[in-house]
Amino acid sequence: MNHLLEIAYLLGSISFVLGLKVMGKPDTARKGNLIAAAGMGIAVAGTLFLSPEGFRLIPNLGLILGAILFGVVVGTLMAKRVQMTAMPEMVSLFNGMGGLCAALISIIEWKDILHHTSPETLPLTHYLPVIAGLIIGTVSFTGSMIAWGKLNGKIGDFRFSGQQFINAILLIAILAASYLNYSGMEASLTEPSIWFYATLGLSVIYGLFFVFPIGGADMPVVISLLNSFTGVAAACGGFLYHNNVMLMGGVLVGSAGTILTVVMCKAMNRSLMNVLIGLAGSSGGGAGKAVTGSVREVQATDVAIMMKYASKVIIVPGYGLAVAQAQHICHELENLLEAEGVTVKYAIHPVAGRMPGHMNVLLAESNVSYDKLIEMEHINPEFATTDAVLIVGANDVVNPAAKTDPTSPIYGMPILDVDQSKQVIVLKRSMKSGYAGIENELFFNAKCGMLFGDAKESLQKLVNEIKTL
Ligand code: TAP
Repeated sequence: MNHLLEIAYLLGSISFVLGLKVMGKPDTARKGNLIAAAGMGIAVAGTLFLSPEGFRLIPNLGLILGAILFGVVVGTLMAKRVQMTAMPEMVSLFNGMGGLCAALISIIEWKDILHHTSPETLPLTHYLPVIAGLIIGTVSFTGSMIAWGKLNGKIGDFRFSGQQFINAILLIAILAASYLNYSGMEASLTEPSIWFYATLGLSVIYGLFFVFPIGGADMPVVISLLNSFTGVAAACGGFLYHNNVMLMGGVLVGSAGTILTVVMCKAMNRSLMNVLIGLAGSSGGGAGKAVTGSVREVQATDVAIMMKYASKVIIVPGYGLAVAQAQHICHELENLLEAEGVTVKYAIHPVAGRMPGHMNVLLAESNVSYDKLIEMEHINPEFATTDAVLIVGANDVVNPAAKTDPTSPIYGMPILDVDQSKQVIVLKRSMKSGYAGIENELFFNAKCGMLFGDAKESLQKLVNEIKTL
């Protein structure tokens, strides 16, 4: 009986790992989420109803169940209502709540330690998780709140000269205050000392200053980084309570967030160090070379003929597909072409859209088969054998300047090699630039035709034309 709690925690830990593994592929991601959620359910039930001695009812059970119910209702409603394009801001808000929880645990535990432990007997190894949870959790909370405000447009960028220097001073001050709090513990009796509150206050300020200067394009990188902070803060709680499942969950979130941060940095050609010291968002290069030449405008009829008689077509989805909500009509076009014997695939750039996996989720919504979504490194060698590429609302991720123009802000970012194919058709509304704010020389390439208009309307026209051919 007294091993039941450990078994519940072990099951929880195993299902987190398994869930993450199963989440790795789009077609099993939903199942992975359910496995991990079930593991969390087992761990929570174990905590509420089991102790090393056997069954028990945790004190304040009514309050805890009430809070869980409140969280379930609010979380479910928010997740059901959120627009795909507003997903990063919701992730940021939820992540901030995780950071706040970790910080609150540290505050409560520190008060408890002061009441029950004599200063001489508190080992540093017990103090470290408390103070690290406080610092990292607080930075994650305030940083995530600023990120949330910036993403929904309520807060603008805020920079001042010497900000990185101030950030470095703040970090040193946080470490100094937390050391003084530990070393002066005898004097603080049963209430936290001024140094404890100084650590808390400085962490709040650091979280604000860390995220304030970061520009829009780098926000998902920062959100992912803050996510990993929250994981580390939760892992501190695991150390504190000797709770293996909390430790495991925190470590998994921390490491997954860090890996995602690194992958995104690479895909956007940002250095992680720049993000860490608050340089992200400041322009990495110039505005790029001016592009000259003429643009060839094409009509839906010509594009429809080209596609119907092609043997292989690759569709490149981008942010414009999400704006136009053109995923369903895009899938209809794909079905129509396949019925004509054309091989159709989708080229997925890692940062197409505005968040990781944006295009995968969007296309999955319209039931595009997962095996048709091909990652950049696998699809790039295929462009040379492709008759037509249809770019639907993508811009930066197909901009050759990333390879050819060292003065371009996206120089070094890996791109989809669409210019290798025989023909390229771009569906967009105007000659306006994409997220990076730069011209795209692809549009001036002799192989490239521009079909101007809203992506959904243009795709509808293509579908209608192909049906009448
Ligand atoms: P963008 O470069 O932003 O280009 C999107 C294009 O879609 C625009 O040029 C726009 O042109 C067109 N468009 C917008 N609404 C449209 C509509 N209703 N119908 C047709 N076209 C429409 O997109 P991308 O190629 O997907 O690149 C993503 C960019 O976002 C990259 O710079 C990337 O670094 C950045 N970013 C990505 C992420 C992640 S994790 N995915 C995170 C942050 C930033 P018109 O206005 O002329 O129509």
